[in-house]
Amino acid sequence: MNSYLKPTGYKSVYTLYLLSKQAEILPALFSEDETRFILQEKEKKHDLVHLNRLSSQLFIQFLDTENLNYKTNEKARSEASGVCKKLNSLKANELHIIDLIEEKALTLAYAEGLILNNYQFIKYYKNQEEKKNSLESLFITSPVVSDDEMHELQVVTEAVYRARTWINEPVNYLTAVQLSEEIRELGHQCGFQVEVFDKSRIKALKMGGLLAVNKGSQDPPSFNILEWKPTNAKNEQPLILVGKGVTYDTGGLSLKPTSNSMDYMKSDMSGAAAVAGLISVLAQLKLPVHVIGLIPATDNRPGENAITPGDIIEMHNGLFVEVLNTDAEGRLILGDALSYAQRYQPELVIDLATLTGAASVTVGIYGSIVMGNVGEPIMTELKNAGFETYERLVELPMWDEYGDMIKSDVADIKNSTKRDGGTITAGKFLERFTDYPWVHLDIAPSAFLHSNENYKPQGGVGVGIRLLFEFIKKHYLA
Ligand code: BES
Ligand code: MN
Ligand code: ZN
Repeated sequence: MNSYLKPTGYKSVYTLYLLSKQAEILPALFSEDETRFILQEKEKKHDLVHLNRLSSQLFIQFLDTENLNYKTNEKARSEASGVCKKLNSLKANELHIIDLIEEKALTLAYAEGLILNNYQFIKYYKNQEEKKNSLESLFITSPVVSDDEMHELQVVTEAVYRARTWINEPVNYLTAVQLSEEIRELGHQCGFQVEVFDKSRIKALKMGGLLAVNKGSQDPPSFNILEWKPTNAKNEQPLILVGKGVTYDTGGLSLKPTSNSMDYMKSDMSGAAAVAGLISVLAQLKLPVHVIGLIPATDNRPGENAITPGDIIEMHNGLFVEVLNTDAEGRLILGDALSYAQRYQPELVIDLATLTGAASVTVGIYGSIVMGNVGEPIMTELKNAGFETYERLVELPMWDEYGDMIKSDVADIKNSTKRDGGTITAGKFLERFTDYPWVHLDIAPSAFLHSNENYKPQGGVGVGIRLLFEFIKKHYLA
């Protein structure tokens, strides 16, 4: 979707007035009859009112402006789905929003919800044209929103769209090699550097975790390095983002059941999609922050040569891991990427991974888990970014006892232990590969939806991009 700021006076067939629920209706905009009708509708608690003027279609969207905070912003995002449906039934291909509330964050949230709601994944339908949402362009006239802010909204939502599409693509299209192709192309489009290590390079680097997970697959793994390094970077040492790129997780020999489990595991590269999406945003907006993305990618399959429960592998940093459950594969490929990150002496490393089902047991679909060794102020900054973007974070502890739970009888550590505390023991496993300030985000709960949630359609959500973009802006540029 294209979105632009328009000067006052711009006219479109489809116009939406953003009005405060708490304010008077401006008489100049509407006839007496119309005003009466709008007031009646408002009385009935209809927050979206449609006025059919035949040659033009007007909408009035009432938004709460009392006690503005992150919750009222989220409500605005969600409410935007109403007009989306309407516009579709009218086959409208554009909408002009006129902001009469003049609260920047609220207006931007409404527009954001509208754009994100309009996403579709319809590549695999013959009747795409029929299925396609009609809305293509969004115009805004607002005294409080700048061109730069509109551009930012455009770039961020575009990145979320792309992440969603990558997640929604099945593995018979999006293999590790294809993922690398897409990342290369994205780098080319957005102006960041991409280097892809193939299997022989991965072998030479002794990335034993990534190679082990890949052993049961017919398709080679890849290790992707994305870099945005502006000359005016505010940080001396890079910020590193690591994304789990399991293009499909069957569980390997510790095979997952199909129904409601394996069948959605094309989404197991959601962390990778977030990392690539976020770096595309930083590069397109030319943010003065040096960022490196690391994406280990492979599918996890039970092929003839697959790793076996009981196997002991040597990771990139030399640690020996007893693989007791081949379905705990994420931590194996991430362990290699996290230890590879040490060579950059990073200022901060943030990994994003659909790592544990236990994380969903904890928070349902309404957030993600955060852990790490950074302490304050970064933890609070991340959580605040979580509220602002409504990609909320819940912190779990990193107590030593959970580290004891992954001690192995035959090797340095094991990749799986008893179920209890499963999200934390996964985090403790990753910690063994870090020697720098580090944050782990387990996005398994919020990365993929089985049914629509307001402006998040069924399927890939694209979680992590808006969250970390907000964090980065505040942390480095405020
Ligand atoms: N990719 C899964 C985690 C997952 C589950 C993501 C459900 C999204 C939805 C991960 O690789 C996995 O299988 N984890 C295991 C770990 C266990 C074997 C220690 C799990 O959570 O069951
Ligand atoms: Mn798994
Ligand atoms: Zn997985």
